[in-house]
Amino acid sequence: MSIIKELKESLKEIVKESGYEEDDLAFSLSQRKDLGDYQLNDALKLASKYHENPIQIAEKIAGNLKKDARFINVNIAGPGFINFSLSDEFLCKSMNLIIENKENNIDKEEEKKIFMDYGGANIAKTLHVGHLRSANIGEAVKRLSRALGYNVISDVHFGDIGRQSGMVISEIKEEHPNLPYFDENYKGDYNDIDFEITEDDLGRIYPLANTKAKEDPKKMEEVIEITRKLEEGHKGYNALWNKIKEVSIKDIKGVYKKIGTTFDLYEGESDCYPYIPEMINEMRKKGYLRKSEDAEVIDVKEDTDKEPMPPLVVVKSNGGALYATRDLATIKSRMERFNPDEIWYFADNRQSLYFEQVFRAARKTGLVNKETKLGFYGFGTMNGEDGKPFKTRDGGVMSLKELIKIVTDEEEKKVNEDIVGKENKTKVAEMVGISSLKYADLIPYRETDYIFSKDKFLSLDGKTAPYLLYSVVRIKSLLKKADEKCYMVTKLKGTEDRKLMLTLLNLPTVLTNSLKIKSLNELSDYIYELTSAYNSFYNSNKILTEKDEKLKSSWIALSKLVYDTNIYILNILGLEVPEKM
Ligand code: ARG
Repeated sequence: MSIIKELKESLKEIVKESGYEEDDLAFSLSQRKDLGDYQLNDALKLASKYHENPIQIAEKIAGNLKKDARFINVNIAGPGFINFSLSDEFLCKSMNLIIENKENNIDKEEEKKIFMDYGGANIAKTLHVGHLRSANIGEAVKRLSRALGYNVISDVHFGDIGRQSGMVISEIKEEHPNLPYFDENYKGDYNDIDFEITEDDLGRIYPLANTKAKEDPKKMEEVIEITRKLEEGHKGYNALWNKIKEVSIKDIKGVYKKIGTTFDLYEGESDCYPYIPEMINEMRKKGYLRKSEDAEVIDVKEDTDKEPMPPLVVVKSNGGALYATRDLATIKSRMERFNPDEIWYFADNRQSLYFEQVFRAARKTGLVNKETKLGFYGFGTMNGEDGKPFKTRDGGVMSLKELIKIVTDEEEKKVNEDIVGKENKTKVAEMVGISSLKYADLIPYRETDYIFSKDKFLSLDGKTAPYLLYSVVRIKSLLKKADEKCYMVTKLKGTEDRKLMLTLLNLPTVLTNSLKIKSLNELSDYIYELTSAYNSFYNSNKILTEKDEKLKSSWIALSKLVYDTNIYILNILGLEVPEKM
């Protein structure tokens, strides 16, 4: 158990000894440092619960607090707010416990198997800024979950089937009508394919085919027909599509690697096809499917719904599968193969109603166990200065690659060659540029939209990655100048160093909360606070030339602890630290 949690438990005990029960203590770091490190604001609530005078309650609790040597400077303010600080001895001891084992500063969760679905890149379509959010937030939540002890399996869930496949194939057919893959009797397979296509071709083909199909109903009909045949196993189309998949996945993986996202499974929507027939049969047999026009739907409305909840279409009028069919069959596959306790999805907020329908359908039709939790964690959009989704200068979709290039190029102008070395300039610019983009994306609460600003994201001041990274690099160089010795915290001066220690003790609360809300905003704020607290400590003390040896080694130990904690958090957030900056 973390030190802060142990403290909370002790406080609960003390309140109990004083004659009161309170499970959810109003205990927090104090805003008024002159009154104490912490405040305990339960007396008022207890007063109405126990019909007693709040001041008397506060006095009883405070009296018992004073008996515990960990708590000093216990005082009561206003109508019964208790303030207190931690003794120097206890603070030092706590820091050393964390130095000994960082597990003393996190609270592990109960063991659980989580299946995470994030990333969601689409084959043959350009990765756009929305995919940054899914990959970035999803990856950070995965790392946080693992740090807190969950067993996580992650899957990218490629959009590798559906109308875009028909579009791309139809356009290739138009441009290369003589290829053998369009022949109904094509006998070869994917390994025989003799057709070169590049990522750039795909980048050009999909938007073109999309426009054509939207403008020409006949073209659209052909696209739908090709898509259906592809799904039904048309040999030539499948050979061609597999080739396209290979090229596209290689490219997508390259971008994911750049932004530090990796998955345990690189499966796609199409991998669930073997599960579809049995699933649909079962659903029909058990009477869950209802004919609606020519399609088949599942009713998912519940009596308590206040908002409209349309039925979920599971079989198309032409008998084919659609996005929802694939998500349901994928749940079936995941349950049968991995039997997770929970499945979490990270996608754009605009898919929230859709996922609610899917979850209800999965529950209703028994695809998941009663206890299995299905969670949708949506996110807002990255907007331009105009408040609309961030676009390219000519109004097109901003690709993730372009976005990375914008921040990297800008950062390259700032990198100091003399410090990082000429040969490292581009690498450092990319590292810092991408980290800036990622950190800015994690700062707002997951569901909140935010505005892209390369100047703000890359600034060396304020809540930015360059500020954090620069500080870490500076602590590292300070530590290099100190001896290799293993330092302990034995003394504190009592101002900045105390604030730093209290901030460190607060980490477990932030980690636990962040996991609860599946958002990194609190942790992003926290690392900024920790860094700022360290920087004011650093600026007001001459650590390496301090005469008091006890103080000096305590400060070095504290610096090392802040450094390690920073690295730990940066790793969860997925931000890379350059050697020099
Ligand atoms: N490929 C989808 C998109 O780009 C996201 C997939 C989300 N996951 C899922 N299981 N449907 O919007």
